[in-house]
Amino acid sequence: MKDDLFKNNIGIIGAGHIGQALALSLLEKKYPRENIQLSYNGSIFTFSDLYDNNLDELIHNNSDIVKSCSIIILSVPPQNFRQIGEFGLDEDVLVISFMAGISIDTIKRQTGSNNVVRIIPTGPGTIRNYNAIAGVYPENKKANTIFKLLEIDYYVLDNENQMKYMVLAGCLPAVYSVVDAQLDENKEAIGKIAEEFSDFIEISSKAEKLVPKSNKEEFVKEVSTPGGVTEAIINSLSEGKSLYDSLIKGLERNEELS
Ligand SMILES: NC(=O)c1ccc[n+]([C@@H]2O[C@H](COP(=O)([O-])OP(=O)(O)OC[C@H]3O[C@@H](n4cnc5c(N)ncnc54)[C@H](OP(=O)(O)O)[C@@H]3O)[C@@H](O)[C@H]2O)c1
Repeated sequence: MKDDLFKNNIGIIGAGHIGQALALSLLEKKYPRENIQLSYNGSIFTFSDLYDNNLDELIHNNSDIVKSCSIIILSVPPQNFRQIGEFGLDEDVLVISFMAGISIDTIKRQTGSNNVVRIIPTGPGTIRNYNAIAGVYPENKKANTIFKLLEIDYYVLDNENQMKYMVLAGCLPAVYSVVDAQLDENKEAIGKIAEEFSDFIEISSKAEKLVPKSNKEEFVKEVSTPGGVTEAIINSLSEGKSLYDSLIKGLERNEELS
């Protein structure tokens, strides 16, 4: 199964934190280097990271990637997705989107693929450490092979609407770096969200274990995409709002990005 997977050219559009974590972990798992392509948006800081990670040789432009890859990973910020334009993919090209807030229908329309899977994982560090937790929708055999290769602990969701709660779950390791998960008020906040998405309590307790022991500030910075949902929750917490209100702010930000 792994050998079949490794024959696919895999293109990662958006080689930022998530994109580079995926590329590095795939390479560590022996995914053939010549079958991985990456793109970014021209930032010199990103180029410098790619160079330091020995990934600079894998850089391609988006149009090369959409022409030559049978698996496309989307890891650009949601607000940058539209600017990429029409992809013109064949219907069966597998598109795996890591973007929060962009629906499967929108991705299908813009890419031309009819084979789109969404995944919301905990941060890039957890992908690198092979302890990411994620929500996935819908189930897809080929995508599952990749998630298993990367040792992602994934939950297949009942419907796409649950993705929005998974977006919150993906933020929890950062959230628990700045608030105490064991406070009664915070447990209640998680319980309230679980009324809408029952896996939330289990995922929340797994997320608590993903808080790093040191360098918490750096960790929070790393997982907070500018303008993204984690940033909205962390900003709200730092304004003194409760965890529940801050999670609701996160849901609202997710809605704005959709
Ligand atoms: N970070 C997390 O913990 C997390 C968790 C779950 C889901 N996500 C989702 O994952 C996605 C990526 O997050 P991230 O934290 O990795 O963000 P990031 O570090 O900002 O990386 C995004 C990358 O996309 C590139 N990009 C932007 N526009 C592009 C374009 N038109 N063509 C090609 N590349 C383009 C950027 O290039 P430049 O560097 O040149 O600007 C950047 O390298 C987001 O959609 C986010 O919602 C993130």
